[in-house]
Amino acid sequence: MNEKQRLEAQQVESTNSSDKKSAKDYSQYFETVLQAPSLKDAKKRGKEEVKYHSDFQISEQFRNMGDGRKFYIRTYGCQMNEHDTEVMAGIFMALGYEITSTVEDANVILLNTCAIRENAENKVFGELGHLKTLKKERPDLLIGVCGCMSQEESVVNKILKTYQQVDMVFGTHNIHRLPNILHEAYMSKETVIEVWSKEGDVIENLPKVRRGNIKGWVNIMYGCDKFCTYCIVPYTRGKERSRRPEDVIQEVRQLAAQGYQEITLLGQNVNAYGKDFEDIQYGLGELMQEIRKIDIPRVRFMTSHPRDFDDRLIEVLASGGNLMNHIHLPVQSGSTEVLKIMARKYTREQYLELVAKIKAAIPDVSFTTDIIVGYPNETEEQFEETMSLYREVGFETAYTFIYSPREGTPAAKMEDNVPMEVKKERLQRLNSLVNEMSAAAMKKYEGQIVEVLVEGESKYNPEVLAGYTSKSKLVNFKAPKTAIGKIVKVRITETKTWSLNGEMVEELVEVN
Ligand code: SAH
Ligand code: SF4
Ligand code: F3S
Repeated sequence: MNEKQRLEAQQVESTNSSDKKSAKDYSQYFETVLQAPSLKDAKKRGKEEVKYHSDFQISEQFRNMGDGRKFYIRTYGCQMNEHDTEVMAGIFMALGYEITSTVEDANVILLNTCAIRENAENKVFGELGHLKTLKKERPDLLIGVCGCMSQEESVVNKILKTYQQVDMVFGTHNIHRLPNILHEAYMSKETVIEVWSKEGDVIENLPKVRRGNIKGWVNIMYGCDKFCTYCIVPYTRGKERSRRPEDVIQEVRQLAAQGYQEITLLGQNVNAYGKDFEDIQYGLGELMQEIRKIDIPRVRFMTSHPRDFDDRLIEVLASGGNLMNHIHLPVQSGSTEVLKIMARKYTREQYLELVAKIKAAIPDVSFTTDIIVGYPNETEEQFEETMSLYREVGFETAYTFIYSPREGTPAAKMEDNVPMEVKKERLQRLNSLVNEMSAAAMKKYEGQIVEVLVEGESKYNPEVLAGYTSKSKLVNFKAPKTAIGKIVKVRITETKTWSLNGEMVEELVEVN
């Protein structure tokens, strides 16, 4: 469905929702329901063609909406959400709002939420609790919930029942509608809900206010069609759709021209890039081949799904240049049986083969990963397979999680015989291994000279500068502030588990 069809259909859908039950739930609170979420609709994958729009503009009637007003956005979750926040900040600024870094100062507060695990959601509910006092003191304050949690009907119902301080709820597919949603919220004084559960469109020309001018995020695709059995993302982010290569390349060129030193190409499964194009054969390998010619010192991409990591991509990555030699390759489990129940569509052996192939092509490559422990019915032996795979690959670090059931996903319905104490204990064992291997990987840097992109002062000591190596290792070192924004050589003098200390040897790249 494209934008025009959607707006036409909206009139009908608001009174004739495909999910009658949730429509009834909402009406009992007398809310302004422009469109309610439905995980059932979000699960569907239609054959509709992806429509590209570049006609976004701020309508005349909203031009001065933000005059004298300030906005604050708190972001939870992944880089995708961080980047969406940059777009929403761009829209706020285009409406005339000013940015503020404190909630006390803000006239509009948005929580851009994450639904990936229960604790991510609990943080948001906790924050909404805190904001209640602020709303009581200043009833004209607008509070909004957006992002992945908004796409879940259970969350929206809970907000309506328990968190009446919320004025608006909108989802991940309609952030370009922010001006209209704000307008509704100012007018109606009741919770405005507009969540689209099915999306096939890509909107190109949205304004953006990027956080920082050294590193930038560039979306290359949206959504996910993998439907791993534990994961909510395919429901909250919709179907896979790629941006056109020319649009991506143009954005990267612009960032290069503005002096950005590093870009990260973003997608839930970047290796599926281009699979949805019907007119051209074009994948992530081709895109990276184009991007490596652009004069930007560092290019990264995330997140890769092992299944779609093809030979063409490996070949292009092996050519080096500005393509970094660090690959984040989530494995989730080392057990073929568990991987099967997770619907990851690869075996332990296939994962190891892929790693070997990449190592052969790029000898200096480093791997990091994501792991879920305590999947329903995971046995001690299966968990041990994850531990042994971790060593075998030689991961340098990992994000590790205890499995968290997500309503609406197949895994949430599975019976689970693993007690929480056992899951916690497994996580602890895995984390000890992660620490040990990270410390060992760091140790190798002792006395070495590395190239560091200097991002700013260290969080803990303004006398010290901090930045990252090509393999994403945090380095702290003393140097003049003029090094910020540049890539400099640093000799490593001390290694820790998670970071390196060093001293600057010389400045490398001049920023114009
Ligand atoms: N698209 C990426 C990951 C997105 S979510 C990929 O496929 O690799 C980031 C990580 O959160 C996942 O890799 C997984 O390890 C974890 N995760 C996702 N759903 C989870 C759940 N229900 N419980 C625990 N961890 C989960
Ligand atoms: Fe979730 Fe799997 Fe898609 Fe990653 S690939 S976002 S884990 S469904
Ligand atoms: Fe969370 Fe949504 Fe990202 S669920 S991890 S914010 S895609």
